[in-house]
Amino acid sequence: MNLLKRVLSISSSLTIKLTIYVVGSVVVIFSVFGYLNIENSRRHLEGLVLSSAQGIGDIIKRSTRLSMLRNRRDELYHMINQIGNEPGLKKIRILNKEGQITFSTDENEIGSYVDKKAEACYACHTQERPLEKLERPDRARIFKVNGSERLLGLIVPVENAPDCYTASCHVHPESKKVLGVLDINISLEKVDESIAEYQRNVVLNLFVIMIAISLVSVAFVWLMIYGPVKKLITGTKRISMGDMDYVIETKSSDELGVLASSFNRMTRDLKRAHEEITDWTRTLEDRVANKTEELQKANQIILQAEKLASVGRLAAIVAHELNNPLSGIVTYAKLLRKRIDNDTFAADGHAKTKEILDMIMSEGMRCGEIVKNLLQFSRRSDLVITPNDIRDIIQESIRLVEHLTTLRNIEIRLGFGKEIPALNCDSQKIKQVLLALLINGCDAIVEEGLLKISCRYVQLLKAVEITVEDNGVGMDEETARHIFEPFFTTKEEGNGVGLGLAVALSIIQKHGGTISVRSIVGEGTTFTIVLPLRPASITEESEHVGVEC
Ligand SMILES: Nc1ncnc2c1ncn2[C@@H]1O[C@H](COP(=O)(O)OP(=O)(O)OP(=O)(O)O)[C@@H](O)[C@H]1O
Ligand SMILES: [Mg+2]
Repeated sequence: MNLLKRVLSISSSLTIKLTIYVVGSVVVIFSVFGYLNIENSRRHLEGLVLSSAQGIGDIIKRSTRLSMLRNRRDELYHMINQIGNEPGLKKIRILNKEGQITFSTDENEIGSYVDKKAEACYACHTQERPLEKLERPDRARIFKVNGSERLLGLIVPVENAPDCYTASCHVHPESKKVLGVLDINISLEKVDESIAEYQRNVVLNLFVIMIAISLVSVAFVWLMIYGPVKKLITGTKRISMGDMDYVIETKSSDELGVLASSFNRMTRDLKRAHEEITDWTRTLEDRVANKTEELQKANQIILQAEKLASVGRLAAIVAHELNNPLSGIVTYAKLLRKRIDNDTFAADGHAKTKEILDMIMSEGMRCGEIVKNLLQFSRRSDLVITPNDIRDIIQESIRLVEHLTTLRNIEIRLGFGKEIPALNCDSQKIKQVLLALLINGCDAIVEEGLLKISCRYVQLLKAVEITVEDNGVGMDEETARHIFEPFFTTKEEGNGVGLGLAVALSIIQKHGGTISVRSIVGEGTTFTIVLPLRPASITEESEHVGVEC
């Protein structure tokens, strides 16, 4: 597999491709050149043999003319036999118009007929043209005998000349154009031997030349292309690995040299750009660090200021909330002191004094309530977590507000889901939360109305969901955003302190739950509480004991 990959990667290399291309082109060009050369030589040699055959034909015709005119056949045949003994001449024969061999250097065939459709005759007899008008190449043909020996056959027509048909001895009519034909067969053995030798020489020479050219081409490709390209590849690899100082050596000024110079220039620019970017990054990082530090300092200052502001705001609200009952207490105390000084203390049988003292007690208790709520809100108070049936807690809470609902004509509708598991919670604190919601609901309903309380188990959250819904005045978005803030109230002085929901939120959070509100002005408000069955902070051991949250 590895070997195959290696072979594939080598064969796909540019140098190998170029080498194959050059060597392939050389082989193809020289093969075509060699083939054409050999064919030309063959044609040239055959042409020479043809013209020598024609020469022989003309000689025979001229030298036998007299013997023919005088009808001296022995002399004629003797002469042809003599010429036929010449080396290379295979056969000479004379055919009459009917195709009968009237004479042949091969005595065996004298008197026999040739097949007019055969090779020797087809040129004239298939074209049906007069013999004397046939072009010379048409009168010649090359054919094989004994399997491999090639012969050139040439047909020389013997025309009916005026002295032929005027001769006293002859009977040839004037209308006869051709009296017969001379058929001369010349062996091409020598020609074929020369061609074969020439072919061997050409192939050998071309092979040597091809090898030489291929070697020179390969060496050229290797030195002029492979070397510089390899240097370029090494350079790109080194730079891609981060070596920006690498320089490709180049001496040549050809395209590859220009490419290497451009590459070196590009690397230099890249290095400079990289250094600039690094510098900028470092400067930027320093600046970001400085700005972050500055921001953190500013943030701390703002936080500090916010803390001071909220502490101040809380202090102002607490002072204001406590100031009213306290100034009442002081006023009532002064009144009592005045009554003692004026000796009117027991004038009406202590009735007024008792009234004043009740006022002082009530205002004192109001102060105490505010402080108690404040403590609950701010301090890490203990929760007493026990398993409880939430339905009981809800029903007890409702009982506590029943007098209020009866007084204000408010209907209470209660709905529980199926199978609500035991809830681990501080029942008193949850009751306090529900009470705050129920009282707020009653306060929101001006005259008559409906309070809906429902509870269900949410399997997915493993939590209990309680909703308290009223059809009271509702609240706008701005009010809803602030209702969980301590001392936020829209109620008239004396009717609300603004701690009910702040304390409720604190209790629910301590149980690991959530409280949310949805309200529409004029339509009503819905509070939704979600309490997990087991608060995350409760462990097995601490489950039934007070837990600090
Ligand atoms: N069900 C409700 N419908 C309309 N407004 C509500 C409802 N519940 C609370 N609010 C608004 O939220 C404010 C804050 O309520 P929160 O219970 O915290 O304080 P409070 O009721 O004003 O006083 P207290 O401390 O006596 O409870 C209310 O003054 C009221 O404006
Ligand atoms: Mg309230």
